Amino acid sequence: MTATQPSAPPALGGPGRGSYWITTFGCQMNKADSERMAGILEGMGYREANAELEADLVLYNTCTIRDNAEQKVYSYLGRQAQRKRANPHLTLVVAGCVAQQEGESLLRRVPELDLVMGPQHANRLDTLLGQVEQGQQVVATGEHHILEDITTARRDSQVCAWVNVIYGCNERCTYCVVPSVRGREQSRLPEAIRLEMEGLAARGFREITLLGQNIDAYGRDLPGITPEGRRQHTLTDLLQAVHDVEGIERIRFATSHPRYFTERLIDACADLPKVCEHFHIPFQSGDDAVLRAMARGYTVDRYRRIIERIRSRMPDAAISADVIVAFPGETDAQYRRTLELVEEIGFDQVNTAAYSPRPNTPAADWPDQLSEAVKVERLQALNALVERVARQRSERYRGRVEQVLVEGINPRDPAQWMGRTRTNRLTFFGAPLPESGRDGRGLEPGDLVNVSIEEVRAFSLSGTLA
Ligand code: SAH
Ligand code: SF4
Ligand code: F3S
Repeated sequence: MTATQPSAPPALGGPGRGSYWITTFGCQMNKADSERMAGILEGMGYREANAELEADLVLYNTCTIRDNAEQKVYSYLGRQAQRKRANPHLTLVVAGCVAQQEGESLLRRVPELDLVMGPQHANRLDTLLGQVEQGQQVVATGEHHILEDITTARRDSQVCAWVNVIYGCNERCTYCVVPSVRGREQSRLPEAIRLEMEGLAARGFREITLLGQNIDAYGRDLPGITPEGRRQHTLTDLLQAVHDVEGIERIRFATSHPRYFTERLIDACADLPKVCEHFHIPFQSGDDAVLRAMARGYTVDRYRRIIERIRSRMPDAAISADVIVAFPGETDAQYRRTLELVEEIGFDQVNTAAYSPRPNTPAADWPDQLSEAVKVERLQALNALVERVARQRSERYRGRVEQVLVEGINPRDPAQWMGRTRTNRLTFFGAPLPESGRDGRGLEPGDLVNVSIEEVRAFSLSGTLA
């Protein structure tokens, strides 16, 4: 559906249209969408504003995964709506998952908005702004086949880039809004993904993260069966098909689902040198009954076996995950099983959250919701444990020499460079000698260097150039 209503036309101007500002909330999919939308705006003649409150067009790319993420957007919008009342030429856009969830009711709540657009419409930003230019208030939240990406994203990094491989999610985890805001799964063709990666390599990018909410579902909506009778397009096949893109040194992928994570995939990751030894595999709960109530489709034992298999092929692999505490009905004993699993696996990093009831999800209507006090208490104890375990994991780097891909200067200390290990640990290191690096011109973002690790913290490392 693309609903339109008449309103006062904001002046978008001609070529050299003024300035834009994008604020991005939420996950990597939103970051990738924002980069594409920034590319579209620059193609239309907008330039990036120096400050949010000076911009002629403000776009919020929103997240609704938990209630606090959604509320944040409303407070930002209040500020802009006030600006718009003083300056009717301001263009206000809400994109992303809150836009998709709320649709037209956002216009009722914030009548100053010009455009409300769901994530599937990101590549159509120019067309939609054209309708705004005609003097309409536009809502674009209909189910939309995502056209092959012909836009040039304006990437935030010069070195690392996201590449979407599958949009949407067909799972039905009982707590999660993503399927209702991101729609059905749509996989891109391997040729298109490869082409995008070749373009990125030609522009100097060195690391690619392949993205999907459930990336292990990649290809199940594409046709084709191999002579051995298995699906022709899987994540494993995709990794093999894009692995030799020249100039790309590292490949990552996220987010993995334990239900679909295969041994074949683990073996391919171990065998393909560019695929980094870091796996983000959310487990959500350490208790089988809770996992069943969440409709996750695996047991804790299956999760353990996946990690064992990864570690038997790649002993140094980093493992990260997402966890929810205080899911409806979660008992103290069940919660403690989550703590035990964090300790037992020894995660390098865990994104934690207290359960937040979301619109149009089954668990939100269950009677056994837990109190705010229990949520806070469980989350705090878990966070303390996660940090302790991560610190222990970091210890293994002390005294080692690690390969680091240079991303840039440490924004908090201009005397230091910053990059990541293959296992995704953020690493800071002292300024290099001038004769090092490509062409003897010193280091540049995109260089691969060896760093001797001297200091370790829970989530980052420091050292000197080896
Ligand atoms: N597709 C990924 C995660 C998507 S959302 C997966 O299947 O794991 C990112 C994370 O947000 C989830 O892993 C979950 O831990 C958290 N999350 C999702 N819905 C939530 C809710 N209603 N309350 C609290 N956390 C939630
Ligand atoms: Fe949400 Fe589950 Fe899909 Fe992940 S797999 S996005 S948690 S529904
Ligand atoms: Fe948030 Fe949407 Fe991502 S709800 S986590 S931005 S898919």
